[in-house]
Amino acid sequence: MVSEKIAALINEQIAHEQYAAQYYLSMSAWFSGKDLDGIANYFRVQSKEELMHADKMFDYLNDVGGEIIIGEIPKPPHEFANAIDIFEKALAHEKVVTKSIFNIVKKCQRRRRFRNYLVPAVVHQRAGRRGSQCFTAGDQNKNGKR
Ligand SMILES: [Fe+2]
Repeated sequence: MVSEKIAALINEQIAHEQYAAQYYLSMSAWFSGKDLDGIANYFRVQSKEELMHADKMFDYLNDVGGEIIIGEIPKPPHEFANAIDIFEKALAHEKVVTKSIFNIVKKCQRRRRFRNYLVPAVVHQRAGRRGSQCFTAGDQNKNGKR
């Protein structure tokens, strides 16, 4: 049985993942509106992956008998200055979600099963950050490499 404290963190994370899915879908819509279908598809795929992460956490919480409480998902922004603005916002959001996941991982060090659920999500977070960094000047190291 998972503690109420951990269950609350996982419920929050489910909401974060679902919000990320909405946010990336909104970004996809912006690119679709500009007939930039390739980039629109990139964000559509990101959106679906976020939903998959939410599903995995939902399943985990269900498996360990935690109470699942679906949180409210705020409406994401739909107006963006340009493509770079979107990638910068996507990168910033990936950082927030990554930090949140690592916070849970830290608090669940002894829960090997939960780590197994989370590893794909963590790997995705890193890939998502790299994907967004390809289009922004963010996160360069001292040598200018990302
Ligand atoms: Fe995610």
